[in-house]
Amino acid sequence: MKIRLVKSSFYNEADTKKRLADFILKTDILSMGEHSASFEKNFAEKQCRKYAVFVNSGSTANLVLLQALMNLGKLNRGDRVGVSALTWATNIMPVIQLGMIPVAIDCERDTLNVSPRTLKEKINEIDSLFLTNVLGFGDDIVSIESICKENNILFFEDNCESLGSKINGRLLGNFGLASTFSFFVGHHMSTIEGGMITTDDEELHHELLMVRAHGWDRNVPHEKRNRLREDNGADEFFALYNFYTLAYNFRPTDIHGFIGNIQLEYLDEIISKREKNFLDIYQVISRNHELLPIRYEHMDVVSNFAVPVIASNPQMFLKYKKRFQEDGVEIRPIIAGDITKQPFYKKFVSESHSCPNADYLHKNAFYFGNNPDLTEEDILILRKMLGSDLN
Ligand SMILES: Cc1ncc(COP(=O)(O)O)c(C=O)c1O
Repeated sequence: MKIRLVKSSFYNEADTKKRLADFILKTDILSMGEHSASFEKNFAEKQCRKYAVFVNSGSTANLVLLQALMNLGKLNRGDRVGVSALTWATNIMPVIQLGMIPVAIDCERDTLNVSPRTLKEKINEIDSLFLTNVLGFGDDIVSIESICKENNILFFEDNCESLGSKINGRLLGNFGLASTFSFFVGHHMSTIEGGMITTDDEELHHELLMVRAHGWDRNVPHEKRNRLREDNGADEFFALYNFYTLAYNFRPTDIHGFIGNIQLEYLDEIISKREKNFLDIYQVISRNHELLPIRYEHMDVVSNFAVPVIASNPQMFLKYKKRFQEDGVEIRPIIAGDITKQPFYKKFVSESHSCPNADYLHKNAFYFGNNPDLTEEDILILRKMLGSDLN
């Protein structure tokens, strides 16, 4: 394989591994502690949010967020949650697991994202919106935010694929009440496994801290802890073993926190390289009439996760798929294709929602990896393969 979807475990891998080895040799306690806490603080600052809660994956970030919103009564069993038809399975699974009903909302073919148009088609059918920002792209999220406000729809984002992208001067992930991130290998920054939830809402922050770890009060600020203990009449002997809310244990380790802080140092560089790669490659796509265009000009920063290749018809899809596979470039469906076609969805969701654009992308599109380790030679190979004149 000449070009793999994921090229390395970390950006600046040799340096990161060396620092990690030194850290492990020197450190006695590796469970969640000061490095996880400082990573949360640094990440919140970078994302321009007040609070960040570090967990062990993007998937658990989604589950923790939904559970916390339920515990606070902002979501309820039986609620109808709008989700993107083009998304990852564990964006939708917690909706079902927690007894709510996912309502798939179609994307636009040229942004891959839910738009005001597709949202309006379903606006009367949903109580909340869990929007996925797909592959570092976004549609008109400013209007999506307003539509949700006008219609009293609770809005939160799965930003696992779009760390660093900006629209209207604002980072994706900062439009909804809260948002989730993934730090799995191959994402914008890697902690091997890892995820984050960010918000500006203090009450939600406290609930997230408890939902992440057993429902106890050990990680919330003193004032909140004292209030909980007082309200619940916790005696001194039992105080550490009182469980206040429905929860899990999805804590990260300090090894992951340590790596997170290192990778965060490189994040600006990573984002600008991903954007440059995308723009260099996209020049060729935009000139090729056998491929459909992507609309991104309304974005200030395209922190691209992977490069979509959208064929203009099924024959062209087969032509480009074959070309990439034969020439050793690893490709895959756009995320996992139209999520409503997945076996789990058909088994656990009884309603069906027609999503013609997600269906089109399922059948006629794929993506290849974009990452900051792509070399100039890789970019040249990819550009060549995207030209219409090759057979
Ligand atoms: C949109 C989206 N949400 C959630 C996840 C889950 O993240 P993780 O692999 O860290 O569990 C992914 C994974 O790539 C994703 O693309």
